[in-house]
Amino acid sequence: MAILMNDYKKSSHFIELEDKFGAHNYHPIPVVLERGEGVFLWDVDGNRYYDFLSAYSAVNQGHCHPKIIEALTTQAQQLTLTSRAFYNNVLGEYEKYITQYFGYDKVLPMNTGVEGGETAVKLARKWGYTIKNIPENEAKIVFVQGNFWGRTIAAISSSTDPTSYSGFGPFVSGYEIIPYNDLVALENALKNPHVCAFMFEPIQGEAGVIVPDNGYIAAAKALCEKYNVLMIADEVQTGLGRTGKMLACDHENVKPDILILGKALSGGVLPISAVLCNNEIMLTIKPGEHGSTFGGNPLACCVAMAALKVLKEEKLADNAARLGLILRRELSEIQSDMITAVRGKGLLNAIVIKPKNGKDAWDVCLALMKNGLLAKPTHGDIIRFAPPLVMNEEQLMECIGIIKRTLAQF
Ligand SMILES: Cc1ncc(COP(=O)(O)O)c(C=O)c1O
Repeated sequence: MAILMNDYKKSSHFIELEDKFGAHNYHPIPVVLERGEGVFLWDVDGNRYYDFLSAYSAVNQGHCHPKIIEALTTQAQQLTLTSRAFYNNVLGEYEKYITQYFGYDKVLPMNTGVEGGETAVKLARKWGYTIKNIPENEAKIVFVQGNFWGRTIAAISSSTDPTSYSGFGPFVSGYEIIPYNDLVALENALKNPHVCAFMFEPIQGEAGVIVPDNGYIAAAKALCEKYNVLMIADEVQTGLGRTGKMLACDHENVKPDILILGKALSGGVLPISAVLCNNEIMLTIKPGEHGSTFGGNPLACCVAMAALKVLKEEKLADNAARLGLILRRELSEIQSDMITAVRGKGLLNAIVIKPKNGKDAWDVCLALMKNGLLAKPTHGDIIRFAPPLVMNEEQLMECIGIIKRTLAQF
């Protein structure tokens, strides 16, 4: 069913405002959204869209999930922020809840995903010095090519994408970058006794949904154990049901030493991130050595507990696994010489687009938008397909219809 489009009368006003008064650090699809509910978004001109990006997997529970909004609004009227100068009556409950949920001794709450990554890097270095006895300032962390964990200097220092790092040096030292999905390179890197951690995404999201070979995660964990190196899994994008398991590492029954969560930890309501690990690692950081004004605030704690409960109550990981199989099967069957690859796991998927008659992935996304589905290209030729996990099969089939019809237009 084609979604009837009103014109875009009001949109241009808001686009001009952002263009004039905002930094030009993004290049959005030209749609101006004003409302979201479940798998749907509406623009300021009343057009309805399927969300096929989910705010980069932050909205796994669907837009404005009633239980998460209820937790937000109730706590917002009670107490929102104390800072960590004082105790509050929600943080401990949340810490108990999330550590039991994922099976770790302790959690360190932060706000954005990149702060989670920074925290993991600091924890790993501290552990390296205090437990592994690496000489001061000699600790190394191994990253993989194509990694993405945010935009701070520490994060872009590990980046292999010139768009991320060019013009922003000098960079943080003590990083080594090896190819992704390459166990020989990993073993060689881990042999260096100054290596404290291996940090990676179980599926690389921003790189274009790059799925490693089956067995890579488990073998990497075994190598980390062999060389007494911490495995840091960045599950900011892959975690919380997105790939068809609660964590992408669960596909290989691997429990990382340090787990980073963000994005869907709030269902897209607030910036909430968390770093989980056991006492040996977490307790290397002492009072005053790390923190954040907003990290662990009572509002965020209530929202995160609600967001985590929804994932389990609604079995969203199972739904992602089931719908992901259908989505990839249907995408693979599309007869279009523009699609050169379909890949993914659960509802974290991508297609690779070969330009045709001067039209590329950006043009495909514009056409998808006009047909009522919102997706965004990455790296010029890849389109990520990652709808909210609350989607049902009928809605998915309607989306597949839109994608088929859109590609047929080229
Ligand atoms: C794997 C991964 N880690 C970390 C981040 C950074 O999260 P944030 O933008 O909340 O800082 C992202 C963001 O896309 C991500 O995909």
